[in-house]
Amino acid sequence: MEESQVFDVMGEDGFARLVSAFYQKVRQDDLIGPMYPDQDWEGAEQRLRDFLVYRFGGPDRYIQQQGHPRLRMRHAGFKIGIAERDRWIELMSAAMKESEVPKEVALNLRVFFEQVADFMRNVPEN
Ligand code: HEM
Repeated sequence: MEESQVFDVMGEDGFARLVSAFYQKVRQDDLIGPMYPDQDWEGAEQRLRDFLVYRFGGPDRYIQQQGHPRLRMRHAGFKIGIAERDRWIELMSAAMKESEVPKEVALNLRVFFEQVADFMRNVPEN
C-alpha cells in the first residue's frame, strides 16, 4: 500500500496506542531508556506520534510544531550504534504486536522503521 494511506488504516488512535506501548518499553530499557529526557516522556511520546502521523499521510502537527524533521541531526546528540539501533527495533516490533497494528500496514511500518533506525547510526562500526 502507499505510505500515504497508512494513516487511513491506523488513524490517530492506532498511532497513539503504538507509540504509547513503545515508550512503556523504552522507559524500562537499560540500554536506550537512559538516553531519553526523564522529565519529558509525554513530550517525547507526542513528538514521535505526531511525526509518524504526519509521515504516513495524516495531519501535519509535527511540522507545525517542530519544523522540518531532520531526524539525523536531531539524533546527533545520542550515541546510536548497532546495539542501540537493534534495541529500538526490538522494542518497536514488540509494541507493534502488542498494540495490534493491522496486518495490511505492518510491512510498510516495519520497512520504514528499519531503514530510519539504521540511518540514525552515528558511531563508526562495520
Ligand atoms: C525508525 C527509527 C526512528 C524514528 C522514526 C525516530 C523518531 C524520532 C523523533 C520524531 C524524535 C523527536 C525529535 C524531535 O522532534 O525533537 C526522536 C527523538 C529521540 N530519538 Fe528517535 N527515532 C528513531 C530511532 C531512534 C534510535 C535508533 C534511537 C536510539 C536509541 C533513538 C533515540 C531517540 C532519543 C533519545 C530521542 C529524544 C527524545 C525526545 O526528546 O524526543 N531514536 N526520535
